[in-house]
Amino acid sequence: MRSQLLAKKPLKLLLDEMAGEHRLLRVLGPVQLTSLGVGAIIGAGIFVATGNAAHDVAGPALMLSYVVAGSACVFAALCYAEFASMVPVAGSAYTYAYTTLGELFAWIIGWDLVLEYAVSAATVTHGASAYFQDLIGIFGLKLPQALSRAPFDFDATLGKWYATGTLLDSPALLVTALVTVILVIGIKESASFNAAMVMLKLAIVLLVIGLGVFYINPKNWHPFSPYGLTGVSFFGKTLFGQTDAGGQPMGMLAGGAIIFFAYIGFDSVSTHAEEARNPQRDVPIGIITSLILCTVLYIAVTAVLTGMVPYNKLDINAPVADAFKQQGLTWAQLLISLGAVAGITSVVLVTMLSQARILLAMARDGLLPAKFFAAVHERFRTPWKSTIVTGIFVGTTAALLPIDVLLTLVNIGTLLAFVIVCSAVLIMRRTHPNAERPFRAPLVPLVPILGIAICLLLMFSLPAENWLRLLVWLLIGFAIYFGYGRKHSVMARRLEREIIKHGVSPAGSPVTSVDEL
Ligand code: ALA
Repeated sequence: MRSQLLAKKPLKLLLDEMAGEHRLLRVLGPVQLTSLGVGAIIGAGIFVATGNAAHDVAGPALMLSYVVAGSACVFAALCYAEFASMVPVAGSAYTYAYTTLGELFAWIIGWDLVLEYAVSAATVTHGASAYFQDLIGIFGLKLPQALSRAPFDFDATLGKWYATGTLLDSPALLVTALVTVILVIGIKESASFNAAMVMLKLAIVLLVIGLGVFYINPKNWHPFSPYGLTGVSFFGKTLFGQTDAGGQPMGMLAGGAIIFFAYIGFDSVSTHAEEARNPQRDVPIGIITSLILCTVLYIAVTAVLTGMVPYNKLDINAPVADAFKQQGLTWAQLLISLGAVAGITSVVLVTMLSQARILLAMARDGLLPAKFFAAVHERFRTPWKSTIVTGIFVGTTAALLPIDVLLTLVNIGTLLAFVIVCSAVLIMRRTHPNAERPFRAPLVPLVPILGIAICLLLMFSLPAENWLRLLVWLLIGFAIYFGYGRKHSVMARRLEREIIKHGVSPAGSPVTSVDEL
């Protein structure tokens, strides 16, 4: 059993699988991959989370929070890019973990990626919902209260869940249904839909910066860091900085842990490696270009917003549009809300697209029922069944649970995934020093070590209850793995056959990888 938990999928096997049947179509070039990256990155984080994070956690110092979170992502992105060029198949960090750390870790990270993608898609739909409601509000319309927000919320000060008195967040549910249909129809159509959305979103972000800059009042940047420059706790015990009434960390670093969400998505480029025309070259280009572009834009948008409106007067639902409303620029508010609804929807699209592909990779390995999750549609050539299941999960979560709780849960899960990917690069450099690496992360081991350190710091800067929620999530994952995946693992069966044949590896130790044979 131990040998199965540590069983690693050989690099060669992965590459051989690429030549097999039921592959996805190779239609994506570097521009489309970068566009998928930007499509996944710019969304509810910058358009929504910025408001709350500046208002309650970091003040104008949120600009620096974006620098810190961005640097964690750059280090992780370099590691992702190295792996994506070595193992250009669907599955992203899940596949990388399988080749380096073994099956159990692969499962943990695959399950963790469900947090990163499916739960994140649910989080993001709330952003689309907030801007949709802002948009119709300009025309004097209002959704019935019962259909306007999630029926449950968490009071961090009291540490308790409470009912909001509503039924569901109906725009969030509608967005999910729309995206699910588009995704089932096909990747090429999805990529063109995404490209149009990305252009629109970039235009809106540039409008915010280009117009907003004329309304900056530098006095609004003082005090620059009203809540301090730190904000780190250790399982609920404050190590550095202030805490709010509920004991949650506040300050620039704590702000970074929240708006880290805004960067999530660049790694989704790596889940499309299998659909890339030239994955070894174009996937690293897509990952790094999209991330750097967004980092620059984010810092500029945050500087403009906190310069236009005093941080404690920023709206927490639709802060970007509201900043222009506060200046009397209703036409800009209208354009921004429209662009935000479309742009945020494009994030849901790419995120759900990636989720279905991760489920596909896990199902091919037998860790999930392959008949269902690995089914590629005859005509559309898309993993349609996993897409529909993802849609149902995202829709339900989005309709019922609030944005703040989902957002911090996604952050801690994604930070964990980044820590594992950075560690896996370190391990892989030792275990497979001569493997072909079309893209090499620079300054190894410094870059992965810095990636791990900053991600851990941000994990500790999140409100403590997220650790508990992450643990519960992982325990559910273990139950599924030990109940299903371990018994059906394709690798396990392969190993069994090899062990019956050879007994032990040539080195004399129990076989833990067919690589050893
Ligand atoms: N980075 C994505 C967003 O902000 C998840 O919406």
